[in-house]
Amino acid sequence: MDGGAEQRQITIHKPEDFVPMRAAGALAAEVLDMVGAHVRPGISTGEIDRICHDYIVARGAIPAPLNYRGFPKSTCISINHVVCHGIPGDRVLMDGDILNIDITVILDGWHGDSSRMYIAGTASTKARRLIDVTYQSLLEGIRAARPGAHFGDIGHAIQTYVEAQRFSVVRDFCGHGIGRRFHEAPNVLHFGRKGDGPELRPGMFFTIEPMVNAGRPEVKVLDDGWTAVTRDRSLSAQFEHMVGITESGCEVFTLAAGEVI
Ligand code: MF3
Ligand code: CO
Ligand code: CO
Repeated sequence: MDGGAEQRQITIHKPEDFVPMRAAGALAAEVLDMVGAHVRPGISTGEIDRICHDYIVARGAIPAPLNYRGFPKSTCISINHVVCHGIPGDRVLMDGDILNIDITVILDGWHGDSSRMYIAGTASTKARRLIDVTYQSLLEGIRAARPGAHFGDIGHAIQTYVEAQRFSVVRDFCGHGIGRRFHEAPNVLHFGRKGDGPELRPGMFFTIEPMVNAGRPEVKVLDDGWTAVTRDRSLSAQFEHMVGITESGCEVFTLAAGEVI
């Protein structure tokens, strides 16, 4: 999702809307759980995409990226210095590659959107630290998500943590409201100031999906119109969860098997 001025209404979903959202989020998480066993040196990103596509369709769901604004595949797979929106294809994984797999399903009309990092073979210490910091930054963001807080609190929590670890937060892409539509208000920035932005209220559904670079934060989009890479070619990592604001905090709809937050 691209950033931009916030002028759209944020949907307040009904308590019963948590039920289909939970199911959509659980399916996205299940695909990410499943695909981990296939990530290894020698497999192509196109093969990984096909495995995910077939699994999603077999579950009666639709892979949301396919034909979304012209995106040609069912998943986004972003390797090493690719920040996000990598297009699966002939690229074969090599030992030491780190990659993000981003899955969005549409189940009974509701979107489930989540992404995680994977390692092909054995990654460098630096790459593993980048992955750890990026995951922890997502948890910092989730911790800040509760009624009465502001969206800026989430961005501030993520940015503060990441920069203390001497990595940088990508500014050009953000999280987003989600539900019956893939991307809706608000833009969920992964940087910012406490108290900025709209107030969080029960029934808001949105993603938090920080992209963290080992080097500078600047990105550029390649000529395919999708693939975003770090300008300095440093490594980049991303994790994405989808949450719903409750009366007391937030529910994470996309937990992995065994993931406790
Ligand atoms: N799943 C991505 C997100 O987290 C969006 C992918 S859009 C696509 O918002 F067209 F590239 F698939
Ligand atoms: Co998303
Ligand atoms: Co996503």
